[in-house]
Amino acid sequence: MATTLTATTTYQNFINGEWVPAQSGETFENRNPADNNDVVGTFPASDERDVNAAIEAAAAAADEWRHTPAPVRGEILFKASHLLEQRKEQYAKDMTREMGKVLKETRGDVQEAIDCGFYYAGEGRRLWGHTAPSELRRKFGMYVRQPVGLCALITPWNFPMAIPSWKIFPALIAGNTAIIKPASDTPLSVKNLVETLHDAGVPKGVLNMVTGSGSKVGNNLINDDRMRLLSFTGSSDVGRHIAEVAGRSLKKCSMEMGGKNPLVVMDDAKLELALEGAVWAAFGTTGQRCTAASRIIVHEKVYDSFKEQFIARVKALKVGNGLQGAEMGPCVNKSQRETVQQYVQIGIDEGAHLATGGHILDSGDYANGWFHEPTVFTEVDQNMRIAQEEIFGPVTALIKCSDIDHALEIVNNTMFGLSCSVYTQDVNRAFKFVEEAYFGIAYINAPTIGAEVHYPFGGTRQTGNGHREASETALDIFTEWKTIYIDYSGVLQKAQIDHPTGQE
Ligand code: UN1
Repeated sequence: MATTLTATTTYQNFINGEWVPAQSGETFENRNPADNNDVVGTFPASDERDVNAAIEAAAAAADEWRHTPAPVRGEILFKASHLLEQRKEQYAKDMTREMGKVLKETRGDVQEAIDCGFYYAGEGRRLWGHTAPSELRRKFGMYVRQPVGLCALITPWNFPMAIPSWKIFPALIAGNTAIIKPASDTPLSVKNLVETLHDAGVPKGVLNMVTGSGSKVGNNLINDDRMRLLSFTGSSDVGRHIAEVAGRSLKKCSMEMGGKNPLVVMDDAKLELALEGAVWAAFGTTGQRCTAASRIIVHEKVYDSFKEQFIARVKALKVGNGLQGAEMGPCVNKSQRETVQQYVQIGIDEGAHLATGGHILDSGDYANGWFHEPTVFTEVDQNMRIAQEEIFGPVTALIKCSDIDHALEIVNNTMFGLSCSVYTQDVNRAFKFVEEAYFGIAYINAPTIGAEVHYPFGGTRQTGNGHREASETALDIFTEWKTIYIDYSGVLQKAQIDHPTGQE
């Protein structure tokens, strides 16, 4: 595979407005998953000292930022979003190089950050509170949002700029200061975002970035009692650990974790539309989306025809380097590809039919990357592990259903609850599906992927812990409500006690 080898760049942490190396001087490499000979750059392998410096900077900047009027904070975010627009193409290329998804998709990822920036910049002139009439005379009541304090933002590699933007923009518009720890597979995209915010005028200390391992950076960050909010997107195992730490130290926490998202195709579906949507939802981002359609539930009347056409399309997918016109890139790293391999074996052992794919691609053009064939299992039972556990790779499972009730039973037979979709022309079925599917996001005649930044994003059951990112609902994560009562009666008034029925 042709490689654009460039000299290795040494990147740094961003602490208190300065680019600085790890105090230990240690670094780690970031390599291109499509071509392991291509070193994207080296990044600081930080430890407790770097985390501490970042927390000190965020704490020192907190008061000034909190008192900066929200519309002024918003203007900086508007500027950052405009700068991101100008830099979109370069940042998309950087992102494909560091995490493998194809250029069309990394452009979308940067666009999602731009959308998010503009949305929350606008919130600078809203951040609405509420008023309600008091039960007492000459008394006024209202509630307003206030910042939470220092935020730890721990972000994944699958949406290397979009997901950091879902956290950074609402955190900053609300008047918090923050430290972001990017996934070690994608620190460059976070560096690009942080640098853009810095260029737009975010003051020093307001936003800091510390790269390195979860054990040394993540753990020190989440355990520090100066941090008030832990916001995490990633695996269920890590999320559970962070939520435990938050529970013990009573920090606010928002967790966004796995999915096992069902896409249902009913017998009255427009098959062509459903096929196109299913291929995109299952294999976009090499299946490495929390929202990926990893269970495709098809009505028995159209199952055979859907299966045949689906497999044909999956076989035709062009796998390769995302910078060179491929439709599907590699897995993000070696261990992710090994997980995929393990699940392929699990599926075979469970008795599912491996209809296409199932192998790693490691010769010729693929020799230096973490490529894996797009893989489809058919005749999958809803209780098999491949139908229950998140694989986070290019593997999907076809499951047969007999009617909408049976489909819904399968849909809800999961420990996750992020995104679901149904293809049908029948409005009654569509509404029944929407009502009964216990998920955070439901699509009608559209795939399970494709969330927009001004709608709530998140899931039920073990996908999360009850929060919703994006839209106005993210402000409930990044602010605390403050209730304010103003009594201008000049006398002591007693709520509940001074009630008409309480008089002598
Ligand atoms: C994720 O998979 O973690 O709806 C986020 C989508 C994207 C976001 C996915 N806009 O698929």
